[in-house]
Amino acid sequence: MTGTVDIVAFSAVELEAQVTTFAALLKACVEDGASIGFVLPFSLAEAESYWRKKVLPGLESGGLVLVVARQGGCIVGTVQLDHDTFPNQRHRGEVRKLMVHPKARRRGIATSLMQAVEKRAAMLGRSLITLDTRTGDGAEPLYRSLGYQVAGMIPGYCRDTIAERYDPTTIMYKPLGPHLPAF
Ligand SMILES: CC(C)(COP(=O)(O)OP(=O)(O)OC[C@H]1O[C@@H](n2cnc3c(N)ncnc32)[C@H](O)[C@@H]1OP(=O)(O)O)[C@@H](O)C(=O)NCCC(=O)NCCS
Repeated sequence: MTGTVDIVAFSAVELEAQVTTFAALLKACVEDGASIGFVLPFSLAEAESYWRKKVLPGLESGGLVLVVARQGGCIVGTVQLDHDTFPNQRHRGEVRKLMVHPKARRRGIATSLMQAVEKRAAMLGRSLITLDTRTGDGAEPLYRSLGYQVAGMIPGYCRDTIAERYDPTTIMYKPLGPHLPAF
């Protein structure tokens, strides 16, 4: 995977057209041990079902933004912004399912995805981003480097992808500046 990385927002139609590629990306990340909601064994069919049942409806209803990183025609990473929040939280958005293919890591792709999702959140009038990540995972220093602060930790929050062990999660947040450029 070489070449320029472009960061784009995908529609429901675009996700549908490439759902098997998204399924393969999710499966590769889970098999690499990512704590993003699933445990092993994890099939391609389960991965595809996730994109169809949990992501497509949000894109269709307009409550979700799907940001995608492409390199050399391949989808190498993605992140979501859930902005289908309650009326008393219309200023908030939740970042979900940040993932970069194991072969494309440590090249700044997640950083670019997060910057793009924050710009999208600002365009939607969101001034607060929240997220959670398994405590101690590589994503934690990434989020810290992007200005996310730790609100707290919940012990025993999620089962490990492989082992029968329950890990803590770290809840993080970032207030957005008022003048982020458009993307
Ligand atoms: C976490 C993840 C998204 C990072 O993607 P990435 O494209 O490799 O991240 P970047 O290249 O933008 O990293 C930027 C910085 O974040 C930090 N960082 C990223 N991954 C890290 C890791 N595994 N360990 C420690 N620090 C890490 C580093 O400071 C890095 O800068 P450096 O490479 O110059 O040292 C990727 O490892 C991944 O998909 N993991 C599995 C899924 C997951 O855990 N997602 C988070 C769900 S909340």
